[in-house]
Amino acid sequence: MSYLVTGANSGIGLELVTQLSALPTSKVTRVFALVRRSSEALDALPSDRVTTIIISNLADAAEVSKAVASATEKLDGKGLDVLINNAGAMEPTGGKFEPTQKTQDMSAQELMSTLESNVATSLVVTSSFLPLLKQGKQKKIFNITTCGAFHAYKISKAAMNMLNQQFAGELEAEGFCVALITPGWLKSRHPQADLEVSVGVKAVLDIVFGAGPEQNGKFLNIRVAGWEENTKGPNKYDGKEIPW
Ligand SMILES: NC(=O)c1ccc[n+]([C@@H]2O[C@H](COP(=O)([O-])OP(=O)(O)OC[C@H]3O[C@@H](n4cnc5c(N)ncnc54)[C@H](OP(=O)(O)O)[C@@H]3O)[C@@H](O)[C@H]2O)c1
Repeated sequence: MSYLVTGANSGIGLELVTQLSALPTSKVTRVFALVRRSSEALDALPSDRVTTIIISNLADAAEVSKAVASATEKLDGKGLDVLINNAGAMEPTGGKFEPTQKTQDMSAQELMSTLESNVATSLVVTSSFLPLLKQGKQKKIFNITTCGAFHAYKISKAAMNMLNQQFAGELEAEGFCVALITPGWLKSRHPQADLEVSVGVKAVLDIVFGAGPEQNGKFLNIRVAGWEENTKGPNKYDGKEIPW
């Protein structure tokens, strides 16, 4: 099966590509890492399993069409099986990552650039790769979402969630699974977070592998042993569907 992961030069995206490319070829044939810039860690992954495609703007359809052309060539007549829209950014509110910041402190520019990173990239990448995904055997699209954090970020992820639902409704009849996954609070950005990135990503991939058309349009939480009922903090990772 072939996979495409966006935002794969660091954090969760890099770990997704790392774990996927370490699986046997019977399970994962090729992983495409779609990024606007590479990284040493991404470049170090085996090139017979990972194809890095660099384009300047994931929200620009003309740019993304170049990525589609290069993936089409590599896939050699086969479709793309799974897309994971992972690229995303969290802007500070009014320039500050402070819990005291309020909605009124958020600038329109912060909101617009976060919408571009978290909604427009998902829209353009999904739309552009749809013809290849329709040729794929798995027909799975995932959007990596969240349950909280800063103002523009929360607004943008809520918009991305609705984008997910629209694709889910439109693609249901063709047997697609278009689902939201919250990866948990992972230590990619904040050392005080709940889980190591490798643990959260392993749990994300458990969902990716197990999901089918019955999960279409669902908002899914990871499952991590020992975190099903978290008494120390607000987050629990019980593998259940999240209502929204
Ligand atoms: N970490 C968590 O606890 C957590 C929790 C819930 C959800 N998430 C979500 O998980 C995803 C990955 O987060 P992470 O923690 O791994 O963060 P990260 O290490 O900062 O990685 C973010 C990735 O997204 C890319 N990206 C951001 N804005 C982009 C844009 N406009 N166009 C193209 N690429 C863009 C970045 O590329 P550049 O290097 O080029 O900027 C980078 O590859 C995000 O969608 C995030 O919202 C994370």
